[in-house]
Amino acid sequence: NAMLQWQRTGFHFQPHKNWMNGTIIYFKKKTKLLFSWDPTSMLLTWIDDEPNGGAYAGPVYYKGWYHLFYQYNPEGAVWGNIAWGHAVSRDLLRWHHLPLAMVPDQWYDINGVWTGSATVLLPNNDGGDNIVILYTGSTNESMQVQCLAVPSDPDNDPLLIKWRKYEGNPVMYPPAGVDPKDFRDPTTAWFDPSDRTWRLVIGSKDDTDHAGIAMVYKTRDFVNYDLVTTMLHRVAGTGMWECVDLYPVSATGGIDMSDAISSISNDHNEKKKKKKNVVVLKASMDDDRHDYYAVGHYDAAANTWTPVDPDKDVGIIGGLRYDWGKLYASKTFYDPAKRRRVLWGWVGETDSQRADKAKGWASLQSIPRTVVLDGKSENQLTQWPVEEVETLRVNSTDLSGITVDPGSVIPLVLNHRATQLDIIAEFHLTYNSSASAAMIINDDDDDDYSCSAVINRGALGPFGLLVLADKQRHERTAVYFYVVVSKNNNNKNKKVHFCHDESRSSRADDILKQVVGASVAVFDHHEEEEEEQEATNDDHRRRHHLTLSLRVIVDHSIVESFAQGGRAVVTSRVYPTEAIYAAAGLFLFNNATAATVTAKTLIVHHMMMDSSASYQHQDQG
Ligand code: FRU
Repeated sequence: NAMLQWQRTGFHFQPHKNWMNGTIIYFKKKTKLLFSWDPTSMLLTWIDDEPNGGAYAGPVYYKGWYHLFYQYNPEGAVWGNIAWGHAVSRDLLRWHHLPLAMVPDQWYDINGVWTGSATVLLPNNDGGDNIVILYTGSTNESMQVQCLAVPSDPDNDPLLIKWRKYEGNPVMYPPAGVDPKDFRDPTTAWFDPSDRTWRLVIGSKDDTDHAGIAMVYKTRDFVNYDLVTTMLHRVAGTGMWECVDLYPVSATGGIDMSDAISSISNDHNEKKKKKKNVVVLKASMDDDRHDYYAVGHYDAAANTWTPVDPDKDVGIIGGLRYDWGKLYASKTFYDPAKRRRVLWGWVGETDSQRADKAKGWASLQSIPRTVVLDGKSENQLTQWPVEEVETLRVNSTDLSGITVDPGSVIPLVLNHRATQLDIIAEFHLTYNSSASAAMIINDDDDDDYSCSAVINRGALGPFGLLVLADKQRHERTAVYFYVVVSKNNNNKNKKVHFCHDESRSSRADDILKQVVGASVAVFDHHEEEEEEQEATNDDHRRRHHLTLSLRVIVDHSIVESFAQGGRAVVTSRVYPTEAIYAAAGLFLFNNATAATVTAKTLIVHHMMMDSSASYQHQDQG
């Protein structure tokens, strides 16, 4: 069926067939020697007189491979029989699919080789790495335990195709007071020089107040673990925390957790220490299937993490999500080659299971995103597609300068297809002060997490793009902003919403179609008020300008949008039936009643890659 075939993406990661969910990623790198390692006995021994005090100072990198391990069902397009799929890439875009890394074949993981993480330990004799993997096994009684695995022949297997499960597995059982079915997804471990232990986090929940919790374990050898009795963090009412992530951030680049910890502990200047200590805690909320994060401070000695702003704590109402659309069970990793932190997540389907079975596959990975601390705000992140994405731009249409009047839609004529796009836009909104009397929503009952549907016209929006739209716009996915101004506040208190309206993304009716999005901060002072000379006190003559930026990635059945430099991100899965192949189009629209929109910048790049055609896939089943 051509329509189902069309839904497969061109430049997003997805297995050749069947089901995929959450991921584990590892980047091959060279680290300094911290331990001696005996792969036969599995014993790690600390080398006491490590030069440079055991820090990871000045590592040397060589061109390596990014490894992606992901939750995979070799037998079908629904969740089950979870094994570890494996793929490698040099650029996070062009993937080579490898055989399954691990399958459920032991009593302790027979119900699934679930999510885990890799930790890089030390170079092999040949200069390669030693890495360990910790993962959750679902046992023959569906108890969740943590298990250890190592590459079985690292010297002769540079792509890490073969893995060996530790004979003494499992290495961790659910501790007292924890439900045996709520103990999963160990993080990458980091090294703490103060007591020379490796530490990692495991998520769970506390039924007494339905709190999501993050527990820390310490280990020296990855075989024996001690639970730290102080809880790293807990948030009442948030339920089970899956795929917890804990990592340092800065506004300028990425940091490895071990590097950050040793740098903080070596610094004796309290002020500098605090500045360095900016750590994100993220949890995937099983209750509502969104990834929530908060920026905070980590205290290694006390084993606590504290949010910068308690009103933005992890998972609470008012808290921050990585993505306001469809993205879950994401993970980050530190990429030493480009000194960046990369985040990517699992993007599930929003169609029916029946449709997934018919097409023979389900789910894909988001575009990998570089994540940094927002330079303008100390308590939020910005996300941006990794720079490698730009290498896929082969052809582009520059439509910059188009103006769209209130109530108009303009078809955009491209010199290429509209199914694989990277769109860069900067909108310039112009309106009179009188417009502020007729806003979409009264600010008093405006909600940060709701979005008004695209058909609801207000004075200052919505305006934006219709992607994957057919000529008649029977099908279209709307990507848009609208501005709300508080009535009481004399045009000063503007709130910008950024949304996707999926309600007409497909003619098919077995699909979840929502209006999703959030309000997005405008820190950039792109807004200026200019009073016309002759206007004097006539408020009606006062012109206002507001500039808002947008990047949209379109790839067949996925739309990923980054508003305001990645301060708000929305991902949608869409399933057009008519707006496919050459019939897929792109429109610029302005549904505002009282504002003119000029696309100061509007560049539409054609993204050349066909992951299913240009790369040989081995059968993963
Ligand atoms: C996330 C998750 C993890 C678990 C895995 C099982 O979606 O539920 O918590 O380890 O998937 O496949």
